[in-house]
Amino acid sequence: MAPITSKLEKIAAALATARATYSKTNPKSFQIHKESVGTLPGGTTRNVLHFKPFPVILASGKGSYLTDVDGHKYLDLCAEYSAGLFGHSHPVITKAMHDAIDNGFALGGANHFEGRMAQLFCSRFPSIDKIRFSNSGTEANLTALALVKAYTKRNTILVFRGGYHGGLATFGKDGKVAGSVMNAPHKFVIAPYNDIEALEEIVEEHKDDLACIFLELMQGSSGCLPANVDFIKATRAKATEVRAVLMFDEVMTSRMSTGGLQGLLGVTPDMTTLGKYFGGGGQNFGAFGGRDEIMSMIEPGHPGGAYHSGTYNNNVTTMAAGVAVLEEVWTEKVATELYQMGEWLQDELRRVAEGTILQVTGVGSLMTLHFSSKAIISAADVQESVAELKELFFFDMLRRGFFLAQRGMISLMTVTSKAELETFVEAVGQFLEERHELVS
Ligand SMILES: Cc1ncc(COP(=O)(O)O)c(C=O)c1O
Repeated sequence: MAPITSKLEKIAAALATARATYSKTNPKSFQIHKESVGTLPGGTTRNVLHFKPFPVILASGKGSYLTDVDGHKYLDLCAEYSAGLFGHSHPVITKAMHDAIDNGFALGGANHFEGRMAQLFCSRFPSIDKIRFSNSGTEANLTALALVKAYTKRNTILVFRGGYHGGLATFGKDGKVAGSVMNAPHKFVIAPYNDIEALEEIVEEHKDDLACIFLELMQGSSGCLPANVDFIKATRAKATEVRAVLMFDEVMTSRMSTGGLQGLLGVTPDMTTLGKYFGGGGQNFGAFGGRDEIMSMIEPGHPGGAYHSGTYNNNVTTMAAGVAVLEEVWTEKVATELYQMGEWLQDELRRVAEGTILQVTGVGSLMTLHFSSKAIISAADVQESVAELKELFFFDMLRRGFFLAQRGMISLMTVTSKAELETFVEAVGQFLEERHELVS
């Protein structure tokens, strides 16, 4: 065999060893995956969870820890891709759900939770006069897009390269892909992210038919890439100028304060979409809300024909969990502490990464680790980073007892302690030291 010389070859060899070790130490995960492959495409019902050689099969979660079917215990740094904000089976949320279940969980009518939950949202988000619930962030986004088209009587929707608004509205990471073939058939126009000049040009070009500018304040799935405040302000100004609706997708970023990232940045959209943890962190949930004039379009009997319904929009377990979250768990103190903990962790990771190509991007408690010698600013930069190193890091962290998203995303939970996170920082430091030749 020819000797391994280049750095890329060395990374590939280290990755092959890491995968082999993983396969050897996770036989039950392999078996379960194998049994699913024939009936679930790829053996999964969420593409994001798949990785080679086979995904780890999780068995249970408690507090800030997960256990897999082979008995390994992990500190959970993935937190159900940010939905599991409050850790596993938070007692207050669990009790609220149990109480709801005991009183019948398929009532088929209005219940006393949904109005309360709506009031709590409206009191926290100044941009939201009225709100409706749905079953996922994707559903909330697609419904809200249809609503703003009906409201403006226009069709074009401006989105941003690298944007992810759910599996049916995703806009490519490599700067070339125009969007997924699975996308809903809206008339999308894709602009570069964080580019004010391009934004102004594209808005000008489409101004007569522009229904909506649709923006993530930090592109989460593409690699935790924050939008510049000036850019966000420019989206506000341009939307107002051409009478388009400005809609923020805060499905992921809303956790930055009790009033979302928009509350911290001080920019007010016309519409906001939410999801993930508000349903208790494990319950299906989505929401869209905004200006009264827009939301009133879906009032029963409103002339104009906008209609919004859904069997599980007010399902009692989600609504009960949501009220408990907003009234008792997700307080201003908790939100502020989590944000600060996230900023601290990012700083710590950057400290141990000094002198290596490891970079950390993110805001507060959401961050992504990238291996690249080029500054990570856009989704295209993320595509160019060394994917094999990210994968190697993922397997090394699993081996050391840390579970994070394979794409390198970390999403903190309110129940995780600083001491636990310190053990992670130490593990990252050890990884960088052991793999020094590959990451410098
Ligand atoms: C910004 C953003 N919007 C929408 C979605 C879709 O939400 P869901 O997975 O609940 O459909 C996600 C999911 O990660 C997201 O990050």
